[in-house]
Amino acid sequence: MIRLTFSIIFGLILVSCKPCYSDSTEKIINVKCATCHGLQGISKGAGVPHLAGQPESYLKEQLEKYKAGERQHQIMSIIAGQLTNDEIATLASWYSKIKIKIVE
Ligand code: HEC
Repeated sequence: MIRLTFSIIFGLILVSCKPCYSDSTEKIINVKCATCHGLQGISKGAGVPHLAGQPESYLKEQLEKYKAGERQHQIMSIIAGQLTNDEIATLASWYSKIKIKIVE
């Protein structure tokens, strides 16, 4: 039931994203993030958080913490460890600017 409710809620979320980023940002996301978090920041599976519309400072801080080892996760620690500080800032900005709208 909880699963069904979630499916319905997220099925109703409309995502619009037209920020002006370079092709390389989209490329990094497609190669490194989209499989799990989606290009539009809507998670592809249970256990993976949605990133769309989260505050930029929060996303940036989480990626910095994974990279520094202050927050640990078997996948994210490795992925964030391979990102430069510039990439972290760009990716945090990208996902934070995605507008989500929940339709009731
Ligand atoms: C293989 C799947 C996978 C890939 C690829 C992946 N992530 Fe994640 N990500 C996760 C999971 C699972 C979590 C939750 C980890 C935890 O519990 O700490 C997570 C957590 C996060 C968080 C913290 C979110 C929060 O709400 O606290 C951020 C930010 C994040 N990922 C960004 C990224 C970015 C940016 C990329 C690409 C560079 C990426 N992830 C690639 C699976 C993935």
